[in-house]
Amino acid sequence: MAQTLAIAQLTLTDFRNYAALRVQPGARLVVLAGANGAGKTNLLEAVSLLSPGRGLRRAPFCELARQGGPDRWAVAAHTEGPHGLISLGTGWTGDNGETGEGASRQVSIDGVRQKSSGTLGGYFNVLWLTPSMDRLFSGPASDRRRFLDRLVMAFDPAHGARVGSFERLMRERNRLLEGARPDAAWVGSVETQMAEVGVAVAAGRAQAFAALAERIHRHDDETSGFPWPDIHLDGELEALLAASSAVDVEDQYRRMLSDSRGADAAAGRTLNGPHRSDLVVHHGPKGVPAKQCSTGEQKALLVATVLAHARLIKSLEAGTAPVLLLDEIAAHLDEMRRVALFEVLEELQAQVWMTGTDEGLFAPLQGRAEFYRVEDGALAHA
Ligand SMILES: Nc1ncnc2c1ncn2[C@@H]1O[C@H](COP(=O)(O)OP(=O)(O)OP(=O)(O)O)[C@@H](O)[C@H]1O
Ligand SMILES: [Mg+2]
Repeated sequence: MAQTLAIAQLTLTDFRNYAALRVQPGARLVVLAGANGAGKTNLLEAVSLLSPGRGLRRAPFCELARQGGPDRWAVAAHTEGPHGLISLGTGWTGDNGETGEGASRQVSIDGVRQKSSGTLGGYFNVLWLTPSMDRLFSGPASDRRRFLDRLVMAFDPAHGARVGSFERLMRERNRLLEGARPDAAWVGSVETQMAEVGVAVAAGRAQAFAALAERIHRHDDETSGFPWPDIHLDGELEALLAASSAVDVEDQYRRMLSDSRGADAAAGRTLNGPHRSDLVVHHGPKGVPAKQCSTGEQKALLVATVLAHARLIKSLEAGTAPVLLLDEIAAHLDEMRRVALFEVLEELQAQVWMTGTDEGLFAPLQGRAEFYRVEDGALAHA
């Protein structure tokens, strides 16, 4: 069976600036070049929606419908990978009454309608780097947590759903605590569930993180030009798990929640838990925090983290590298780093979708990648 996970055919219907598009990538490495506004990121966004969650822009689903088109959109793909040939489909229609920010999308796997997008994680593993992530190290911890949770999902597709249910439980507890006389038994039952799911989330992170850190710190696949990222997982439950069993940490966290009802009610939020964890990154060779590094160095650290992760996933038993979406990847990388990146991508044997405004930046990939020119929501072979 094919070990590379790849999209063999991608179809977009009324998705952003694409009325109708069908692509059948013939190579593992795909380069999409085109002017600003041509539709490069839109295409990567469509691919990202084949995985659980809201896609790489986290945009409301109603915004994805093509302006001037019908109030609906669809993305479909035939994928090849360790599960054989699978067809994945997702879409949204405005006429089912769900039109606001919180509207959900439909998902099908091999034609079978799914209850949520979560099950996609069992079939399609994808990681992305976009220009908005250039500020990952200097921006809010929530972005780094989301980035980390994506990495964890490659180990455990159910992780995303657990993160989602923890957040729902936490919002429920916060709402209950806002009330004048919260029902203690009800709050207690929500806290019990929060402890169970929260510790599972922390354990998933701790495990995936440990594997990634070990891989990086071995330095045996260091890529010339890319600094090694010195990564730390900063989280209360994750730290407790290093010393105690999951059951004990659940007990501790449940007590912590119960003891902090007053403080949490006063703060209007839950002060402790896995929703406060952070991925702390330093520039390994220089020993300085990533946020103090130059724009290009930060980008290189981010790329190095994703590459280490992709190699790790691939090296695990029967592992398959995730599909990579690298938006504007050539920006901020000097020529040496670009060439180094292309080498690693080729060696990784992952399907990689790369974009750039300037095709010339991908020149070293001539003959090794499939080049498309993107223009006004259409693709042509370059
Ligand atoms: N729902 C929509 N319907 C139609 N067009 C849309 C929709 N949403 C976004 N667009 C348009 O899609 C165009 C392409 O966007 P996209 O972000 O993919 O461009 P890009 O090729 O990545 O450009 P850049 O090089 O600037 O990053 C933009 O002009 C945007 O206005
Ligand atoms: Mg773009």
